[in-house]
Amino acid sequence: MKRVNNKVVLITGGASGLGAADARLLAAHGARVIITDINHQQGEALAAEIPGSLYLAHDVADEAHWISVLAEVKKRFGQLDVLVNNAGFVNFSTVEEQSLEQFRLHLQVMTEGTFLGCKHAIPLMRETGGSIINISSVAAVKGIAEVFAYTAAKGAIASMGRSIAIHCQNQGYRIRCNTILPGAHDTPMTVKALTELAGADTEALTQLHDVGQGKPEDVANLVLFLASDESRQINGAQLVIDNGETIK
Ligand SMILES: NC(=O)c1ccc[n+]([C@@H]2O[C@H](COP(=O)([O-])OP(=O)(O)OC[C@H]3O[C@@H](n4cnc5c(N)ncnc54)[C@H](O)[C@@H]3O)[C@@H](O)[C@H]2O)c1
Repeated sequence: MKRVNNKVVLITGGASGLGAADARLLAAHGARVIITDINHQQGEALAAEIPGSLYLAHDVADEAHWISVLAEVKKRFGQLDVLVNNAGFVNFSTVEEQSLEQFRLHLQVMTEGTFLGCKHAIPLMRETGGSIINISSVAAVKGIAEVFAYTAAKGAIASMGRSIAIHCQNQGYRIRCNTILPGAHDTPMTVKALTELAGADTEALTQLHDVGQGKPEDVANLVLFLASDESRQINGAQLVIDNGETIK
C-alpha cells in the first residue's frame, strides 16, 4: 500500500542521514519528493537514485532561498502537501565555551530555518491542506551540557510547533504541525559528534555508539506516518523517538 501516494513532499537537509532516509521511504510510498540541501553533490546523487525526485540548492537560513525554492515547487508541482524541516548540524560547546557567533549560527540554521520554512510554506500548503514535520531532538528536553547552542535551537523548534499548529487550526487551514524529538540515530552527524566526544578512546566510542542508537529508517517510519493521512488526528504533538533513553 502506498501511504503518501502523489503527495508533494519537501525535505530540507535531505542529502544525508535522516533526511535521505525520509526521501527514500516516502518516495517508495508514492510521494513526489523534493530534496533540498547545501551539499549539492550528495543531494544531486540522491535525487538521481530516487525516481521522480528533484534536488534544489537551498540554504535554509536564507529567506530569499525559501522564497525561490517554494516558487519553484509551485511552478513544477502546483502544490505542497508535506514539509519536513530537517536540516541541521551540531557543534560542541558548553555555555561557558560557547562563542556568540556559533550560538547564532545554530539558531539561524535550525530555529530560523524552521520558522522561515513554516512562514513561507503555509500560504502554499493552505490551498490543499497538509502536514508540517519539524525535526527537533531530545536535546530540547534533556540537559546536555556539551551541546549548549544545539539545545537552545532544538528547544525553540519544539515550542514553535505548538504555536504553528494552533495558528493553522484557528485560521481554518487543514495543516497539521508536529515535532519529532529523535535520540541518537546512526547518521554522519552522530558518528562525527560521537567521534569528537570519545576522541581516541575507541572503547568509549563503541559504547556511545551502541547506546540507544537507532537507524535513520526508524525516524523515517515516523515521518511517513505523520506525512500520511493516517495521522490526521495528531496535531501539535511532540513525539520522542529514542527507545526510552529520555525517561531513564
Ligand atoms: N542523527 C541523530 O541522532 C539526530 C538526533 C536528533 C536530532 N537530529 C536532527 O536530525 C536532523 C538531520 O540530522 P542527521 O543526523 O541526518 O545529520 P546529517 O549531517 O547526516 O544531515 C544533515 C543535513 O543537513 C544539511 N544542512 C546543514 N546546514 C544546512 C543549511 N543551512 N541549509 C540546508 N541544509 C543544511 C547538511 O548538508 C546535511 O545534508 C538535524 O536537524 C539533526 O539535528 C538528528
